[in-house]
Amino acid sequence: MRDAQPSTIFLSDYRVPDFLIDSTHLQFELGEDSTSVCSVLAMRRNPDAAEQGAPLKLHGTELELISLAIDGRQLSDAEWSQSGEELIIDNVPSSFSLSCETRLRPQENTSLEGLYKSSGMFCTQCEAEGFRKITYYLDRPDVMSVFTVEIIADKERYPVLLSNGNLMSSEEQASGKSKTVWHDPFPKPAYLFALVAGKLAVVDDQFVTMNGRCVDLKIYVEEKDLDKCDHAMLSLKNAMRWDEEVYGREYDLDIFNIVAVDDFNMGAMENKSLNIFNTSCVLAKPETTTDAGFQRVEGVVAHEYFHNWSGNRVTCRDWFQLSLKEGFTVFRDAAFSSDMGSPTVKRVEDVTLLRTAQFAEDAGPMAHPIRPDSFIEISNFYTVTIYEKGAEVVRMIHTLLGPELFRKGSDLYFDRHDGQAVTCEDFVLAMEDASGIDLQQFRNWYSQAGTPQLMVSGVYDEQTKTYTLSVKQSCPATPGQPQKAPYHIPLAVALIGEAGQLPLNLDGVEADIETADNTERVLNVSLAEQDFVFKDVEEEPVPSLLRGFSAPVKLVFDYSRAQLLRLMRNDSDGFCRWDASQHLGLLEIKSAIATQAALLEPEYIDVCRDILADTSLDAAMVALMLQLPSEAYLAEIIHPVDVHGIHLARESVRKALANALKDELMACYSRCQSNEEYAATAEQIARRSLKNTALSFLMLLQEDRFTQLAVSQFDTSSNMTDRLAALSCLVNSDAEYKAEALQLFYQQWQHEPLVINQWFQVQAMCHLPGTLKTVKELMSHPAFDIRNPNKVRALIGAFCGQNGVNFHSEDGAAYRFLADQVLLLNRSNPQIASRLLVPLTKWRKYLPAAQKLMYAELERILSEPELSSDVYEVVSKSLQ
Ligand code: ARG
Ligand code: ZN
Repeated sequence: MRDAQPSTIFLSDYRVPDFLIDSTHLQFELGEDSTSVCSVLAMRRNPDAAEQGAPLKLHGTELELISLAIDGRQLSDAEWSQSGEELIIDNVPSSFSLSCETRLRPQENTSLEGLYKSSGMFCTQCEAEGFRKITYYLDRPDVMSVFTVEIIADKERYPVLLSNGNLMSSEEQASGKSKTVWHDPFPKPAYLFALVAGKLAVVDDQFVTMNGRCVDLKIYVEEKDLDKCDHAMLSLKNAMRWDEEVYGREYDLDIFNIVAVDDFNMGAMENKSLNIFNTSCVLAKPETTTDAGFQRVEGVVAHEYFHNWSGNRVTCRDWFQLSLKEGFTVFRDAAFSSDMGSPTVKRVEDVTLLRTAQFAEDAGPMAHPIRPDSFIEISNFYTVTIYEKGAEVVRMIHTLLGPELFRKGSDLYFDRHDGQAVTCEDFVLAMEDASGIDLQQFRNWYSQAGTPQLMVSGVYDEQTKTYTLSVKQSCPATPGQPQKAPYHIPLAVALIGEAGQLPLNLDGVEADIETADNTERVLNVSLAEQDFVFKDVEEEPVPSLLRGFSAPVKLVFDYSRAQLLRLMRNDSDGFCRWDASQHLGLLEIKSAIATQAALLEPEYIDVCRDILADTSLDAAMVALMLQLPSEAYLAEIIHPVDVHGIHLARESVRKALANALKDELMACYSRCQSNEEYAATAEQIARRSLKNTALSFLMLLQEDRFTQLAVSQFDTSSNMTDRLAALSCLVNSDAEYKAEALQLFYQQWQHEPLVINQWFQVQAMCHLPGTLKTVKELMSHPAFDIRNPNKVRALIGAFCGQNGVNFHSEDGAAYRFLADQVLLLNRSNPQIASRLLVPLTKWRKYLPAAQKLMYAELERILSEPELSSDVYEVVSKSLQ
């Protein structure tokens, strides 16, 4: 908690550190009420520092200081002082050894940052600034040190003692304790430090690297979870191989550990050779985990592994550069998942997240560039902008350079900066130097916030056989950035004729990137207004624009229904086909809003019927094309947002479609049934996805036979994907069986916390009236625990963030409910509190009555006397 108004930190204030830490020796004595930490730091003045006589300022927070010595001499109270999070020692030599003892109470640490306990085990989370809750230190990523860690603990309670790097020794001590020493030869910033102690079971495997080195792979979990590690282990080995093949990156130690922890604020953490994971991102087995869960495990395991190069070997100079490691690593894990499964499906999923959550963030009060220039609390900047938009920016570089030059660029980046803490600018420079391609204007993507809009129109001239695409770009104002300079936007295009793609002959010397077959080009859009003229176009084409979603922009093109139908049927780009389906769906929803009735266009029904019957198509794509744009996406394009109007219109269109295609949906459902043994393969996942999409449409018809289908799917399926899909259908219907199904499900799975989270979530997301009451009741359920972030996200987060109609109930009861939970969590876990708060911050989008109620709750939160810096930043910025 803060004592004064939290202050803003600026990128422009960056200075190199005054001191360096050559080596860090830590000794932990883990106890039942407190833990003692003794550190010995080999420090010296940084020769590059501006001021050579500067005092030593160490970061530390919520620490009990026991002793402090320099070169073995205890400091008197007069020799040091404290101010805010800093411990200041005025006179220090140019090089010295600093010894410090602190006492911590991990048992009472509910913030899940620093050293804390989760289900009986000790664990750490130090990124971004958690290490200062362990000992006084230079807790900034550009101070890199070689760590040696001694852990002393009761050997019965904590038989497994882990830290980074190599195991040096392990010995029994007197009085039932044991001591383990770890040494990490790679200098690293404190945020990559980790420690784990507990009673853990382990799954072992090995990986032989491209140079023949054998690496021990270990996944540590609770005994009862030993049967849920296979998928993570396979994903890890696949990721290790992929990074060698695609980036030439080899693993650099003889051991790689993963530990699963129940209480964790985020997904996982890439600590050097000791990745710590939220159980939800590592455990998986068919009976307990959905297909989406399997894919998330694969993606997160790979993400954390890839950080070993993009994050650890080359790290960030300061936290403004966070996207340097996160954007690049998300780009890498997306390409990996795409190679492991279905590329188009992965792309559609990623674009969907971007266009809902990230576009909303870019349009809201917390909008920031992927390299922000200021923040109050860095924990608030682990955002979809830093991660997902950051990945899109790297992807655009990949598109502009092409795969070979991009690889040359990444090789140069890793070679040049191995062992360093660097900036986004260093990354872009390496890409420029390796490729010879000018990225000067492209850098605006790093400095400007907001989602650019591309207004495109096309004119065909029958006489001259030319087709002219006119492109106008603009970007709305965002907090602190009223004006935007034009972006360099790679715009991938094709022209679709009656029988397929037309050859492209661009007029003029406008630089552009040509693809192999000359029917797709990447246009370099760089001016506010620009024309591209295609010659020798033999027929009037339909433009296929932003193919593969080549840039994170809002595209506006006034397509007619006929043009969209041509794209949806004929475009060779899977993303554009899907996008055309969404656009057609949007037109149906808009007309349902306007007419208050869902009279579907016959052509729309026809195209849906055709794709449902077309077994040559990827079933997952069929499912995605049939699903109408989500309410969250609609809230990004219809203004102001009438949540209830949108919901009713969308539901009525879904129901009308289900009615029109009843037989086809039923046939499709039956066709997709299968008795084969579960596997998380793209092909099986696709089939389940289509089957469950069909079921959810049929359930809207409220016919007994379809309810029976859901009941029997719930009763008989052995995999969680089908089971949960059926349960969700039942929960959202008026089926009598619903209460019993929920009860059965709970009884069967009460000992599996991750399954119970899904049970909470499916109820929290029910769009029927009365859900707020259910959520409140579930909060007193014995399985609920407000200190566990997964539970909070499953129940409160899902209700407030993904259940529009209930969250925006007209009496404002749910707004009040959320504000109450935020105030409660503000004390125990500020990071979770400020994340939960996000739906309220979007108040400006909604109708005036909703705005007023939401605003009042934000003001109520702001008036709380002891707000954490996390919550303070989000609330105060959203009221500005
Ligand atoms: N670096 C981690 C990852 O993306 C996430 C760290 C979470 N940090 C935090 N302050 N919550 O893999
Ligand atoms: Zn990451």
